[in-house]
Parts: sequence; structure tokens; C-alpha cells
Amino acid sequence: MKISVARKKAGDIKADLKVLPVAEGKENGGGVAELSGAESTAVTRRMKATEFKAKEARTLSVQAGTSDVLLVGLGKEKSAEAYRRAAAKGVAAARAIKARSVAVCLGAGSSAHKYVDPVLEGFRLASYRFDKYKSNEKNSKDFRVSSLVVAGSGLTAGSEARQTIARSDAVVDAVYLARDLINEMSSVKTPSYLVRTARRIAKGAGLRCEVWQGKKLETEKMNGIRAVSAGSAEPGAFIRMTYKPKGKARATIAVVGKGITFDSGGLSLKPAKAMEWMKQDMSGAAAVLAVMKAVAALKLRAEVRGYIASAENMPGQGAQKPGDVIAYRNGKTAEVLNTDAEGRLVLADALCVASEDRPDCIIDLATLTGACMVALGTRIAGVMGNDKKLIDSLIEHGEANGERLWQLPLPDDYKKDIESSTADIQNVGSGYGGTITAALFLEAFVGDTPWAHLDIAGPVFAEKPMPYALRGGTGFGIRSLVSYIESF
Ligand code: BES
Ligand code: MN
Ligand code: ZN
Repeated sequence: MKISVARKKAGDIKADLKVLPVAEGKENGGGVAELSGAESTAVTRRMKATEFKAKEARTLSVQAGTSDVLLVGLGKEKSAEAYRRAAAKGVAAARAIKARSVAVCLGAGSSAHKYVDPVLEGFRLASYRFDKYKSNEKNSKDFRVSSLVVAGSGLTAGSEARQTIARSDAVVDAVYLARDLINEMSSVKTPSYLVRTARRIAKGAGLRCEVWQGKKLETEKMNGIRAVSAGSAEPGAFIRMTYKPKGKARATIAVVGKGITFDSGGLSLKPAKAMEWMKQDMSGAAAVLAVMKAVAALKLRAEVRGYIASAENMPGQGAQKPGDVIAYRNGKTAEVLNTDAEGRLVLADALCVASEDRPDCIIDLATLTGACMVALGTRIAGVMGNDKKLIDSLIEHGEANGERLWQLPLPDDYKKDIESSTADIQNVGSGYGGTITAALFLEAFVGDTPWAHLDIAGPVFAEKPMPYALRGGTGFGIRSLVSYIESF
């Protein structure tokens, strides 16, 4: 897709489809005000006839001359997210009429330039497809927008625009990478597959990439990964990637991801229904790979270290058993009462290493608990941690990127719930507050490093299509993290 920004009025643009985001109460503003001639007349007439109100996600489509025009409501409050969603509506319309060229027209406003990035993001994210396993769609070229232009007399087309395009390219490419990984089947994307992917990314971007497998996991006491991998024919892996900026790093940020490539539950086997989407249990790891790729492409000013703890959780011969105890490399011991609470077991290893490396902060991402989906639903992730400033900042960057985070508490007295009779801690609580007890387990492995934990179990995988994500992996968290790292 050829992408450009043009300082041009909607009326002076040629495109199969013109998408005009408009604000509620200002229906005649934005791109609508910059239409001309017959197109303008046709659109105004239809708007009047239908009493079009630009409520969020409301659309009006008008055939006018050589273009189709799609008005998309932004609601009263213009936000970056409203523009992302409006652009996504444009993708659906483009698909319906097989448009090859699309223009999104923003008008003359002085704030228009702020929305170029969200428009590009929304359009490209909504264009994502995962059809490698569809026999009839695999080779079809039926839908492909070949050119996208964001236009408006309020825009500038120079180096600022080129930078915006480059940024959204890097971010969207990263999200695509994560979505492809999440949507891939578990029999393909084993821990070793994640290792190969990490090496490929590192090679392409000039990052350092270390991998611990087999004997090395043993000598490094990565015993959580080893315990979870024990029931699988697929060997587990630990990955550490490092991005160093040119010059002195403004900060050192560690990003840690849960990389369970399939979660059967282990001997504490899940029921069939609960296993249907457990290929997504490596979404945290996918986010880490994506963030590493993006920060390198964008040459950000912070040092970023990515850590992935990967294993396949299976009930095979040699599987860990309820009642087994894991001795961690930080000296702590944990009793495994439920082998299905495996994410925290492997993350503990990675958090130990990440905190030994002494970063300014650690952010982990994990599809950790079904309880988080019970608490917050499928569109909001839980965030917990030991550092208010870090958490607040992540929530803010999430808000700006259409990725909602909601903080849950980590009360000290809840630690009682994971006290073990046999070991230092146990891997499950009493059943209530499961998202919190999972996070409290993790906290035992971060020491005093400022740390935030994102439980992305809900929003990282869409069982129903989302505004700019299909059914399947969404890549939740990546854009907020890149934006957070960008702020240094
Ligand atoms: N990977 C799951 C959590 C999950 C559930 C993610 C549904 C996405 C959708 C995790 O490993 C798990 O099985 N958690 C258990 C914890 C329980 C055994 C304490 C859960 O949530 O039921
Ligand atoms: Mn599990
Ligand atoms: Zn899991």
C-alpha cells in the first residue's frame, strides 16, 4: 500500500473512496467543508435528507461522481481513537466497493495533523488479514487498497509527514508480526519457533539476542520453564534481546513476556472448550518481540531489553505434578498446586533475570488469568505493580493508544492467600481475586525494581471482531508500550 499525506482539499483529490471523519455538531466541517462541485452538492443533500448526526461510528455513504464518499461520525469529543475507528470504517467500505485508492480527508483545522498517525494506524490495522490457512482466499487479490492518502488543507506534506508515516509503518509492522504469531497454530509456533523468530528479528534490526535452552536452562536454574516444559515433547526456551540506542540511553526498560505456545493446563487439564484459544497464550512474548522490532526501527532513545519465557504446557510423560516444588534462581521456592497456573511459573524465571540486570523498570505482559476477564471483560487489561508513577504513565499511554488499562490493587494482606505449607509460596490462591494473587506471585521475583504487570488475557485476543482488529490476535499492548518508551 502506497501511503502519502497531501496538503489538498477533499475536492481536489481523486480516489475511488473518500472517507470524511466528521465531528458531532460540526457535521459540515472537516473534509466535508473541503468538497467541491457536484460532490459537495450530493453529500450536502444526502446529509440533509437523512438528518445525518455524526455520532461515534455512525456512517453515511454517498455515491458522487467518480468517488464514493463515506462520512464517519467521530462523536462530540475528537480523539485519536475516534480517528482510528473512523479509518477502520473506511477499510470496510473500501472492501465492499473494491476501492483501490482511498483518501481520508481531514479538512483545514489546525489540529488535523495530530490525527494523521491515528488514521494511518487505524486503516492499516483494520486491513490486517490472517488467511494463510484459507484455501480459497490464499491467492486472491480481490481486496487490496493500493494507495492511501491522508488529505486536508490543514496538513503539511514535508518531512514531518514522512516521519509520521515512518512511525506508523514501524508500529503497524510490529503489531502485524505479533498478530501473525498469535494466530499461528501451536503445532507450528513451538518455543523453538519463537527462538527462530527472535533471532531473525535481532539479525534484521542489529539487536543482541541470547537464547538459553536445554542444559543451559538447568545450569542457569531456570526451573520454572523447565518444570512447565517437562510434560511436553517441545523443549522450553528463554530469550533475552537487547536494543541499545546510539549515545547514552535515557533509560533502561525491561519488557518481559509470557510465551506459553500452548496451554493445555498440564495435568490440571483444561476442559475442551477452555482450550480452544490457548494458542494465544504466548501473546505476551509476541508483544515483546514486536516492541523490540519497533524500538529498533524507530531508533528510540531508551535501552530496551526484551525477555521471553517460553514453554508448551502439556500433560505428557514426565509432566510436573501438583504438589511438586520449584526452586527458583533467586532462592525462593514455590509449590505447584495447579499446573494450569503455569504462566507465573515461567515468568518468575524471566523476572529474576530481568531484575538481576538492574533496569530502571520492568513491564511484563501476560495472558495470565481468566479471572481478569471476569473482572474487566474482554476489552480492558488489568495493570498491577509496585510503582505508581510507572502504572499511571502506562495507563495514560494506553488511553492515548486506544488500549485501556485498569489498575487492580496488590494488598499486602492478600499474600496470605499464596502462603504454602510446604514451600515459600504456592502458585494458586483460594479462588477469589485470582488476578491479584497471580500478580502477587510475580512480585516475589522482581525484588525492589519498579515493576508493572499487564494481564492482557482479555483484550489480546478478540473472539468477536474489534473496531480495528479481526477475530483473533489483536496485538494489544504493543502500541502503548512503544509510546511509553518513546517518551524517554
Ligand atoms: N492462560 C491461562 C489464562 C487465560 C484464560 C488466558 C483464558 C486467556 C483466556 C492461564 O495459564 C490459566 O490457565 N490460568 C488459570 C489460573 C488458575 C488455575 C489459578 C485460570 O485463569 O483459570
Ligand atoms: Mn494455564
Ligand atoms: Zn496460560
